[in-house]
Amino acid sequence: MTTTARTVIGGNWKMNTDRAAGLALARAVSDAAKPLASKVDTAIFPPFPYLPIISQALCDAGSSLWLGAQDCYHAEKGAFTGEVSVGMLKDVGVKIVLAGHSERRHVLHEGDDLVNLKVRAILNAGLWCILCVGEKLEQRVTGQTDTVNERQVRLGLREVSPDQLARLVIAYEPVWAIGTGKTATPADAQDAHFNIRGVLADMFGKDAAARVPIQYGGSVTAANAVELMAQPDINGALVGGASLKAEDFAKIIQAGAR
Ligand code: 13P
Repeated sequence: MTTTARTVIGGNWKMNTDRAAGLALARAVSDAAKPLASKVDTAIFPPFPYLPIISQALCDAGSSLWLGAQDCYHAEKGAFTGEVSVGMLKDVGVKIVLAGHSERRHVLHEGDDLVNLKVRAILNAGLWCILCVGEKLEQRVTGQTDTVNERQVRLGLREVSPDQLARLVIAYEPVWAIGTGKTATPADAQDAHFNIRGVLADMFGKDAAARVPIQYGGSVTAANAVELMAQPDINGALVGGASLKAEDFAKIIQAGAR
């Protein structure tokens, strides 16, 4: 299957930065992404409290960056203490939202049903969604990588319509590779991505599946980004640690534009 997907690079800041550092990082990333915007879509995912000020700064700079949120809650409003709705995110300029990040699944114990509700809420609101999937180490060593990915993709995308797929990105992030310095080999990552695209093709047809960007995530650095994104089914990267240093992240954006 020939991939026709655009390249999407995401910087997931997780629970890092403060107001001043976040603003400075957003401005530096924006400057780095602008000249490459025709070739690669770049998104940053700051912590919730900094979204409005960063949104304003990006707007003032005429930035090409997509403002992203790390999570959301699927209900529109109401008695959900501590949660943030998709409408609130949209209200402050968010364009793309993560759902089912590994830390949400495995630290905060979110299951596939909740992830699916979030995916649908994000897409129904007209925003872009990155559905994150990936196996744990014990699942990899027992040969369950593709089964786990398939289950998370199928359950995550339940009741998503074919036209909504145009605003979907999948991030394959093997749990054992996140924040550990261990990266999947480009060949292993390509295998997983190829299988994920096959699942999408089975659900939505080949052409639609070919257009969905599938990012790799898990210890992506300026050093390994080129080789990973040279794989035919790897259409970008979702970056944690290395997205906190503007220079390193700029090199990953450049790798995505090659
Ligand atoms: P690291 O790049 O720090 O391994 O994090 C990956 C990740 O979880 C991005 O969402």
